[in-house]
Amino acid sequence: MSKSVRGVVARSKGAPVTIETIVVPDPGPGEARVRVQACGVCHTDLHYREGGIGDEYPYLLGHEAAGIVESVGEGVTDVAVGDFVILNWRAVCGDCRACRRGRPQYCFATHNATQKMTLEDGTELSPALGIGAFAELTLVAAGQCTKVDPDTDPAAAGLLGCGVMAGLGAAINTGNVGRGDTVAVIGCGGVGDAAIAGARLAGAARIIAVDLDERKLQWARDAGATHTVDSRNNDPVEAIRELTGGFGADVVIDAVGRPETYKQAFYARDLAGTVVLVGVPNPEMKIELPLIDVFGRGGALKSSWYGDCLPSRDFPMLIDLYRQGRLDLDAFVSETITLEDVEAAFDKMHSGEVLRSVVVLDDKSENRSGDKSSEGTSR
Ligand SMILES: NC(=O)c1ccc[n+]([C@@H]2O[C@H](COP(=O)([O-])OP(=O)(O)OC[C@H]3O[C@@H](n4cnc5c(N)ncnc54)[C@H](O)[C@@H]3O)[C@@H](O)[C@H]2O)c1
Ligand SMILES: [Zn+2]
Ligand SMILES: [Zn+2]
Repeated sequence: MSKSVRGVVARSKGAPVTIETIVVPDPGPGEARVRVQACGVCHTDLHYREGGIGDEYPYLLGHEAAGIVESVGEGVTDVAVGDFVILNWRAVCGDCRACRRGRPQYCFATHNATQKMTLEDGTELSPALGIGAFAELTLVAAGQCTKVDPDTDPAAAGLLGCGVMAGLGAAINTGNVGRGDTVAVIGCGGVGDAAIAGARLAGAARIIAVDLDERKLQWARDAGATHTVDSRNNDPVEAIRELTGGFGADVVIDAVGRPETYKQAFYARDLAGTVVLVGVPNPEMKIELPLIDVFGRGGALKSSWYGDCLPSRDFPMLIDLYRQGRLDLDAFVSETITLEDVEAAFDKMHSGEVLRSVVVLDDKSENRSGDKSSEGTSR
């Protein structure tokens, strides 16, 4: 039987999000229904709301989540009812040209639930990144559930489901940061600070954080930055060069994703260095660079989709590091909020007040049984 719960929906481009009753089908073959316990507010949710990612409204937002598997469909063996899982948007297919070449982190045919969640009137919802977890229950492909140690705070664990993983992986996997490297990170939100934490884990000797906002630079220091640059008042390229003996950093990570920050990253790296673009540009953005500089500076210009992570490999390992005190995921949780507060959380993201606002869902919803008549909106 399908269940009706509350969820945060972006109905049209640019409009404030609203809480709607959404209908979540019973899991079909290969699917799992998950009771969401916590879901972080990522800048990508705002990109969806603003039309920066697509035009398939209405979107069910939220995708940085952890929760408990509530039911599974036929043929699901990797996860079971009651498992504590982090949701991922990279359930690899095992069969596409990337997977067949042993590069499943680039899988081009990742799995999502086949059935659609809908509004009460039957309108199909597009779940953000195939997840849609600003909701009490969500339906995903079973492969989108990665089981981790249940003795972990869901608010912290869920962050690995997107932004924090993207940042950690941008440094560790895509940027291939190694011992003794110099690293610069432009944009110190949740993703950028995770890149800083990743660079530290990987043994970087010098980590330069760049942001327009002094508060963000303070948090970046907490995450492991050894130097900070306020790019509102300083040219970040000059500053990074100055801090690296005039040469530039070995790896520069653009965690903003704008033409100007990409250019800064491009010129702030040492010869033969690496640029990693992990911030997501919008479709209108363009960049112009002298081709001779692209050639002459050598090195690698890379993009990082989801930190080139493999959830089954990386999530349990990172939760272990967290539990050992080597990766402070709690530091990313600036505040816990309810579903009603998501729109306000977007404002706070804009004004730089938070690293991550995390929606924490009320456990009482656990006992709400039912069918469509159980009315997710009444609580
Ligand atoms: N590649 C991926 O797989 C992936 C995954 C998750 C998020 N993202 C993207 O990463 C980006 C960052 O996400 P977030 O959640 O950390 O966002 P956020 O809004 O929390 O952080 C962005 C930070 O960049 C700073 N900033 C903005 N413009 C700047 C500029 N010109 N120079 C320096 N700093 C600047 C802001 O002050 C802020 O601290 C977004 O574009 C998001 O969509 C990518
Ligand atoms: Zn594949
Ligand atoms: Zn995200």
